[in-house]
Amino acid sequence: MEIVITATPESAAEMVADTCERLLKHRPEAVIGLATGSSPLPAYQEMVRRHRDGRMSFAGATAFLLDEYVGLPPGHPESYREFIRRELTDQVDLSEDRLHSPDASGPDPAGAGVRYEQQISDAGGIDLQILGIGSDGHIGFNEPSSSLGSRTRMKTLTAQTRRDNARFFGGDQDAVPRHVITQGIGTILDAGHLVMIATGSSKAGPIAAAFEGPITSMVPASALQFHPHTTVVIDEDAAVELRHAGYYREAFSNKPDWQHL
Ligand code: F6R
Repeated sequence: MEIVITATPESAAEMVADTCERLLKHRPEAVIGLATGSSPLPAYQEMVRRHRDGRMSFAGATAFLLDEYVGLPPGHPESYREFIRRELTDQVDLSEDRLHSPDASGPDPAGAGVRYEQQISDAGGIDLQILGIGSDGHIGFNEPSSSLGSRTRMKTLTAQTRRDNARFFGGDQDAVPRHVITQGIGTILDAGHLVMIATGSSKAGPIAAAFEGPITSMVPASALQFHPHTTVVIDEDAAVELRHAGYYREAFSNKPDWQHL
């Protein structure tokens, strides 16, 4: 695993945008997995800037969201599909028919997971999966106790996650849906390259638990330790609980170039 500690949240965002830019240059038809939530937002803003500058094109790419709330009507501004359209895909040249999200508002949310897995497989799998991490260590919406081999399916959010996400629903925890459809941990681990971004002191505990603690379903992000190509991009605040931060700086952060990412 590459654990890259950046001086600022802005440089973390640039590094994630660099990784995506490099992939799209090398493979314009790449399949990209997109996280929502606040962590990747600065990286998406950077990608939009680079697209406007003519540096990045998504014209040949396909995107899959990590997860979606169950029960929000289509077009709800806090549905993850609307979120990603607003923050990224409507602002770049990714065509809407190549933006995929779990069908969480249809009549059969339970079957939507199986159909989503098929769509990912039909697209040839995900090349690059961008991830955030929840305060309880979740990835996607795989909450603690999720099977480390799980596939896309419905899950129930913990009270902690609904509290954390109330900020997107006017501060009202009761307005946060209880259920979601999320790529499973097994689904996430199938992607070619996993890039997690986490910034700020609230992520320090979950980052240390996930990458320096044991692999356990109690910290779903710890499953990333199984993956042969994981890059964890964190700022100084998110690194404060890492015991081996000095080593990571020496091994990964001070390299003059980032060709290995
Ligand atoms: C969102 C997702 C979640 C978030 C996590 C962190 O698609 O899959 O795992 O990445 O809840 O959210 P933020 O970034 O808002 O702290």
